[in-house]
Amino acid sequence: MSQRIRKAVFPVAGLGTRFLPATKTVPKEMLPVVDKPLIQYAVDEAIEAGCDTLVFVTNRYKHSVADYFDKAYELEQKLEKAGKSELLAVIRDVLPRHVRAVFVTQAEALGLGHAVLCAQPVVGDEPFAVLLPDDLIWNKGPGALRQMADLAEKESASVIAVQDVPQEQTGSYGIVATRDFSGRHGEITAIVEKPRPEAAPSNLAVVGRYVLSGRIFELLKRTKPGAGGEIQLTDGIAALMAEERVLAYRFQGRRFDCGSRIGLVEATIEFALDHEDLAEPAREYMRAALAR
Ligand code: G1P
Repeated sequence: MSQRIRKAVFPVAGLGTRFLPATKTVPKEMLPVVDKPLIQYAVDEAIEAGCDTLVFVTNRYKHSVADYFDKAYELEQKLEKAGKSELLAVIRDVLPRHVRAVFVTQAEALGLGHAVLCAQPVVGDEPFAVLLPDDLIWNKGPGALRQMADLAEKESASVIAVQDVPQEQTGSYGIVATRDFSGRHGEITAIVEKPRPEAAPSNLAVVGRYVLSGRIFELLKRTKPGAGGEIQLTDGIAALMAEERVLAYRFQGRRFDCGSRIGLVEATIEFALDHEDLAEPAREYMRAALAR
């Protein structure tokens, strides 16, 4: 699979129960970090990596994700009339012209592996990316997916983002065992979904960025429900490893677990401190708040 990826899949059909009551009406992917919804950060990362087809796997509660990427005629007209060209550019840049968004539905919440499989009619059998918008990855240089796409192309292999986590947290992640790393990557020899710390093959955890061979779809079709009774992407990857090389990649950048409340708070603080207009007032406020 020495091809460059062009298609990115965004599974956005989850319930987001950790953010109730907000997520009663607002999908968790639409929660903002400063002034952009989480989904926008993941979309920007995919576009930067070279993707021009974005596949959103949604359900009937997620209309606002589709609305967000749709053209906002009335708003655009108003801003145009008012001569607010900067704001106009902000809403138009949500999706650049060369990029198309495709929406597929996952009628039943059968797991992440099943959600990815729902994208097969759009992706076909070419290599593609999966981005979980809950994982917000921030890097001053090339984005995490761009780094992974480069490696996947060079090595003709699938690539999965990983990060070291404390041993007691293995039960929240897919965990991999690898051969020796060469630089930032190493071949995966085993992958398990959410093992208890004593059963975990390592403390190297899968983070929500994947570059996968199109072969995974056929394997996902045969994947039986696993951890939590769900069809797991992790189990599809385990099957893929029996046929093709799959690499673990320690990306450059910082990951915020925005699927948790503290992660979203941390990301908000970090992005505010890095924001052109907000850095100074945010710093001042934090100093005062901590001194209280
Ligand atoms: C999913 C994957 C898991 C991965 C994690 C990364 O789990 O199943 O392997 O480590 O994303 O965020 P979830 O967090 O959706 O339960």
